[in-house]
Amino acid sequence: MKKFLFAAFVAFWSAVVVLVVLDALVPAREVKGARETREPISEAVVKRHDNREDCWLIIEGAVYDITGYIPEHPAPDFVLTSWCGMDATEGMRTKGYGRNHSDAAWAKLEEYRIGELEGAGG
Ligand code: HEM
Repeated sequence: MKKFLFAAFVAFWSAVVVLVVLDALVPAREVKGARETREPISEAVVKRHDNREDCWLIIEGAVYDITGYIPEHPAPDFVLTSWCGMDATEGMRTKGYGRNHSDAAWAKLEEYRIGELEGAGG
């Protein structure tokens, strides 16, 4: 009986150690954007992602990979894709006709943030 208890004790703590190690090794949760960066992203790099299949936007000094959102956006694709690779702050604030997006739309946008724009400050 003592042997069994000892084996159970060892097995339990081995499992705990394995779980702790695995948790440390698995990378943190990722955002929907294709990558997560700590380094600020330059405007030149954003400019390379200028099409429907690979669409990054600069909005208020942050960078977003909204490629996956294009089919979900409730307006014809070109409305959004014409801004790919560019600073789309104006598009986001005006929808192209002078009306700001809803708070829900701004919150949605944050799901696609991949980094800060280089030189944007703060
Ligand atoms: C930057 C260029 C963009 C332009 C020009 C643009 C334009 C538009 C237009 C024309 C509509 C439909 C008409 C309307 O609701 O008044 C719309 C709706 C919407 N857009 Fe955009 N959009 C842009 C970017 C985005 C982004 C990046 C997101 C989110 C990731 C987004 C989320 C939404 C949502 C949720 C709606 C539904 C209405 C609302 O909540 O305001 N849009 N947008």
